[in-house]
Amino acid sequence: MRLLFVCLGNICRSPTGEAVMRRMVEEAGLGDDVVVDSAGTGDWHVGSPPDARSTAAAAAGGTRLEGAARQVTTADFDAWDLLLCADRRNAAALLAIAPSAAAAEKVRLLREFDPAPAAAGELDVPDPYLGEGGFEQVLDIIEASCAGLLERLVKRAATG
Ligand code: 4NP
Repeated sequence: MRLLFVCLGNICRSPTGEAVMRRMVEEAGLGDDVVVDSAGTGDWHVGSPPDARSTAAAAAGGTRLEGAARQVTTADFDAWDLLLCADRRNAAALLAIAPSAAAAEKVRLLREFDPAPAAAGELDVPDPYLGEGGFEQVLDIIEASCAGLLERLVKRAATG
């Protein structure tokens, strides 16, 4: 299973999702079966490390953010099984460049995997860079969503 986390700048939410998911997958003993990466729909921060505030919030929770920002490309639709978007704006940007219907079906919202907020229609991870949410709050939301996603992957592995 290959999971690409996508946000706008690839310096706050998606590198956090990538690192949280990688840690959870390794803790679940699925490190050999699940590959994770992240990318942004925008190009402003290409080459930059994760935002220091996201890095600090994650570090307090035992997660280390890594990598340099890159922009998503149409090749990502072939390279990944799921493109997990931080918010609906990111999903719309991906759907606008999806090369096929099959590619478009890979585009999901990360919060779909956290049952309670999804049921309440809370489908966006707030953007901390734009001041929509605090960095700790955003980390909590991403952790809950990744836990739900992991549960889904574990069930899928068990049932084949
Ligand atoms: P992210 O946050 O999408 O969670 O990485 C942002 C980072 C940068 C910008 C917007 C959001 N920006 O406009 O530069």
